[in-house]
Amino acid sequence: MIRKAVIPAAGLGTRFYPLTRAQPKEMLPLVDKPVIHYVVEEAVKSGLDEILIIVGAGKDAIINYFDRHILDEKYTDNYMKHIPDIYFIRQKKQLGLADSIKYAKNFTNREDFAVLLGDTVYRSEADSTVTSGLLNDYYKYKSTVIGLERVKKNLVNHYGIVSMNSVTNIISNAVEKPNPTNAPSNLAITGSYIFTEDIYGFLDTLKLGKNNEMQLTDAINMLCKTYDVYGSIIKGKRYDIGTVDLWLESFLQFLDNNDKYSHILRKYIR
Ligand code: G1P
Repeated sequence: MIRKAVIPAAGLGTRFYPLTRAQPKEMLPLVDKPVIHYVVEEAVKSGLDEILIIVGAGKDAIINYFDRHILDEKYTDNYMKHIPDIYFIRQKKQLGLADSIKYAKNFTNREDFAVLLGDTVYRSEADSTVTSGLLNDYYKYKSTVIGLERVKKNLVNHYGIVSMNSVTNIISNAVEKPNPTNAPSNLAITGSYIFTEDIYGFLDTLKLGKNNEMQLTDAINMLCKTYDVYGSIIKGKRYDIGTVDLWLESFLQFLDNNDKYSHILRKYIR
């Protein structure tokens, strides 16, 4: 059984500057809760209740957020009913997503594990969570599973893009943010992954990739040349809080769906 989730939240948030000068992007609100709250909830609802959040410089607010607070009892509806065991580690230097995952090695301790990006939130279309869908595939294949979504061809340069056999669901190639002209497909990595511990061997040998960062997609590309790596189209909607535009769009959609506050939005729609 997979019980451990790793949540990388160490990125600099440069695309939000100056909004993220003093506050991590993972603490930006989606209506009445910060983004990281939804990510931890997604993990817990998926049965992952041992969580490691990888933070870095300027991210203390995330650690403080998960402290128990004297007001939790009183305002329990707005907070988490069950706070899982959450561990934190600081990435020393912002060398990229792949480098941050290396910090999880002691925590995962030879167990296979899930990775959920700290700036990506899901709304499931099924009874269970989006991550549960990936976990089911992992239990079926007993191998690494990567969450995927089809994106418009002109947007492939924002994502890790894979080639996948549509019969076996086996991934044969993964490229980080390719040009639309030479992208292998429009199947994008959504930012939810179930890894076997084999990934660490490839993280250790990784060189700097796209944008001079260590790219997790490059490690997946090496992994799939040696082991079977499966793609799994997610069953639900993904909200990427990666840029101001995407955050505002997500915020409005969450507001629209919120029983308590959606009336505020209605005031502005004529
Ligand atoms: C990261 C990954 C990329 C993935 C994306 C999903 O990119 O490197 O492969 O498709 O998350 O949001 P980032 O958004 O951090 O640039």
